[in-house]
Amino acid sequence: MMNPELVNKFRTLQTPFYYYDLDLLRNTLDNIQKHGIDKGYHIHFAVKANFNHRLLQIIRDAGLGIDCVSGPEIERAIEAGFKPEQIAFAGVGKTDDEIRTGLKYNIFSFNCESLQELSVLNELASEAGKKANVAVRLNPNIKAKTHKYITTGLTENKFGITPDKLPELFKILPELKSLNLKGIHFHIGSQIRDMEPFRQLCEKINIIREQFEQEGIELEHLNLGGGFGINYDHPDKEPIPDFKHFFELFSQNLDVSKNQQVHFELGRSIVGQCGNLISKVLFVKKGISTNFAIIDAGMTELIRPALYQAKHRVDVLTSSKSKKYYDVVGPICETSDTFRKDIELPELQRGDLVAIRSAGAYGEVMSSNFNLREKVNTYYSDELL
Ligand code: LLP
Repeated sequence: MMNPELVNKFRTLQTPFYYYDLDLLRNTLDNIQKHGIDKGYHIHFAVKANFNHRLLQIIRDAGLGIDCVSGPEIERAIEAGFKPEQIAFAGVGKTDDEIRTGLKYNIFSFNCESLQELSVLNELASEAGKKANVAVRLNPNIKAKTHKYITTGLTENKFGITPDKLPELFKILPELKSLNLKGIHFHIGSQIRDMEPFRQLCEKINIIREQFEQEGIELEHLNLGGGFGINYDHPDKEPIPDFKHFFELFSQNLDVSKNQQVHFELGRSIVGQCGNLISKVLFVKKGISTNFAIIDAGMTELIRPALYQAKHRVDVLTSSKSKKYYDVVGPICETSDTFRKDIELPELQRGDLVAIRSAGAYGEVMSSNFNLREKVNTYYSDELL
């Protein structure tokens, strides 16, 4: 996947580091333009997946909006040049200060996750002499068939308002004079590769939006959230997710009235494949039943394997010798600091470089300084090539 010239540049840099392929990001965005934006869909980048400034500028230039989950994310989006009317703000636990930040900018939508949040937002908006644009986040009770920690659309999950509360919502809405109800919002989970849950989501939304219509509430927008997954096993076979298929599913299954906008909040599918964590082999240790390749990146740089048992592909960049089996592990003092177990790789020795692939989403942004490790450097394809 990486040309020898680039690998030679990598050899001169201190590892570990994040490397972003900006051309791949641009091509991904072109694809979203063609299959999503040109078809009339509104796409917000879920900035939680990666708040890196350079990536944000490219995403902004491609005309996407943004989806935030904290006050600082709203500030970061504004700094990066996104317009307030492109900002959606979700989250089950917005603080008063964060709500005030959203009010200050008159953002596109507060995606509210409980009836109590609606009344608090109403109060704070009234205090500020403003009307807040709101979408209610509903919990559709759909199994996303993904890792349980990133499943969000089941009633046992903390997210959204369950549809049984709709009668109460309809009752209190007229009293919430400082709110403008604009839409309904959903997000059923992340890394969803099987399209069936999205089809079920469309069915549920078709029913729910009718309930609003029957109450005489016109919804300006339907926000379907994010969740579209990427191919972690074969990033080179599928560097750009199949957005054509994804958006077609919604145009075939979702009922949308005239003048009603459809929004998405995509994170992983936009930035996942353009990021790589480059690391160096520190030691190779022969165990009883396996060989350990101990690399200088750890769960501090990429926590996904430890937290979600995620399997990121490991490519060896500097060896093509005959293959051996390895557990690829980091230097951190706990056993969860394991990238891969029992994988076949070209024979490794101290100093070899490896690329941990598909690390552009929820990688750099979830890094920590556990063990007092410092934040690693970041490089971009246009500075190295
Ligand atoms: N909208 C909302 C309301 C969300 O909560 C999320 C992600 C997204 C959109 C974007 O989802 P995406 O398109 O990226 O799947 N750290 C985990 C993923 C957590 C996702 C949280 N919410 C991981 O590394 O797999």
